[in-house]
Amino acid sequence: MATTTSAPLLTLAGIRKEFPGVVALAGVNFELLPGEVHALVGENGAGKSTMIKIISGLYRPDAGEMAVGGEVAEFRSPADSIARRIKVVYQELDLVPDMSVAENVFLGGYPKTPRGLVDWAALNSRTESLLAELGLDIDPGTPVGELRVAEQQLVEIARALSQQAQIVIMDEPTSALSPGEVDRLFAVIEQLQQRGVGIIYVSHKLDEIFRIADRVTVFRDGQLVTTTPIAETSIQQLVTWMVGRELSDLYPKSPAVIGEPLLRVSNVSGPGIYDLSLTVHAGEVVGIFGLMGAGINSVGRVIFGASPRTAGQVTLAGQEVGAGSPGDAMEKGLALLTENRKEDGLVLPLSVKNNMTLASLRKFATFGWLWPRQEIKESADYVNRLSIKTPSLRQQVRFLSGGNQQKVLMARWMMRDPKVLLLTEPTRGIDVGSKAEIYRLIDEMAHRGLGILFMSTEIPEILGIADRILVMREGRIVAAFGRNEATQERLVAAAASDLNDAIVEAG
Ligand SMILES: Nc1ncnc2c1ncn2[C@@H]1O[C@H](COP(=O)(O)OP(=O)(O)OP(=O)(O)O)[C@@H](O)[C@H]1O
Ligand SMILES: [Mg+2]
Repeated sequence: MATTTSAPLLTLAGIRKEFPGVVALAGVNFELLPGEVHALVGENGAGKSTMIKIISGLYRPDAGEMAVGGEVAEFRSPADSIARRIKVVYQELDLVPDMSVAENVFLGGYPKTPRGLVDWAALNSRTESLLAELGLDIDPGTPVGELRVAEQQLVEIARALSQQAQIVIMDEPTSALSPGEVDRLFAVIEQLQQRGVGIIYVSHKLDEIFRIADRVTVFRDGQLVTTTPIAETSIQQLVTWMVGRELSDLYPKSPAVIGEPLLRVSNVSGPGIYDLSLTVHAGEVVGIFGLMGAGINSVGRVIFGASPRTAGQVTLAGQEVGAGSPGDAMEKGLALLTENRKEDGLVLPLSVKNNMTLASLRKFATFGWLWPRQEIKESADYVNRLSIKTPSLRQQVRFLSGGNQQKVLMARWMMRDPKVLLLTEPTRGIDVGSKAEIYRLIDEMAHRGLGILFMSTEIPEILGIADRILVMREGRIVAAFGRNEATQERLVAAAASDLNDAIVEAG
């Protein structure tokens, strides 16, 4: 726990940043103390990543002052920020996959022999001791590309230590980690704290923040709402500050009206999936829960045909869906949202509107004529319903915040009016207010008779919205529960493999 008497490592005063049509930061003050975990929360587009990019030297503020260790800092590039011992652990890691762990940890600053050659023995032994200090059992000679995302992240942190970082910034670090890996990351964060490192921690997972943060700062629409010790607030209170109103019902679930079977998957296998059988009825929300790495990310791809199907059959409303043919799947009425927005075909230089309508052009056209007014009307409608933060429908999607990009993709597939919607982690990176909105839309679509297959690693949302829950482990369905039988404990018990238990113990 940080002491309030120590001088701040980092101070921002009146920092302002505008983009065309958007005030991303409207003059914010922020302070980071040695040994402190300072959480930063706010809705999608509130300005969190913008602040981090300013601290890391990627953006220059339009106004305001920044000081590091009491000295004014005017960063012209990321190199200036690194020189002041600031380290950002990005979600998209910038490690070199073909180089070893040791080479990555000391990238650019290798220990040398007296003759000026790289001292490989020292490189390996120093890496080993850094990793050991972090409680990690990773061979320094392993190519980084062979590590899991969680381990790569920890290597990034080891690199931060080798660069003697004083300030470590993490932007949504746990979105790809299993519960055991999260525990291990948190243990490492505590180590950093004990060395006096200050940590800025951005996350939409509020329960995590209560586990590790000392203080929390809330942003709303580029404004700082408050900074408060974590011990003096609650999740409910944080949500109210973030959203600007009280959020009463996160999971608006009305009683399901289950109709005919729509999607039938029989004995399907494919990369990461073995002998999968399930049925989704009209009006039904079926959830598949699994821990990170259990295979839930492959389910949608194999059913939809974006990954090869090596065995089994898929039918939609009685019609057979060809294997490995997304075109056929779409034709028959399937739509798929994957967990990976880049791969999922978000076209960054295209506008918000064009990204939304991309998969539904036929709907807005008769005899080859496009009806732009209809297109605009429907896009605007989705921008409102999903509270997508954008200055206009013409804004290029690359300028939207991460969570808002995800909402644009969600709108794209909803707009197609599919019969069955396959959703993989649709709320990853999305703020609580918009999560509630997405759950409401899912509920509404089910009421219109759509079938929804919903893959998630988050138990509360699965329990909150699914009529039936399947549990996946190592690519196979290992348990099934009705809405009323499912509990957190039962899902965890079914999902935990021996492997994951081992990680939890090691952490
Ligand atoms: N380079 C840019 N050009 C134009 N607008 C931008 C740019 N970068 C950010 N913005 C806008 O600034 C606002 C703040 O974005 P920022 O990425 O900081 O949000 P965030 O709080 O990190 O959101 P999320 O939780 O979705 O990651 C958003 O409205 C975003 O669209
Ligand atoms: Mg962000």
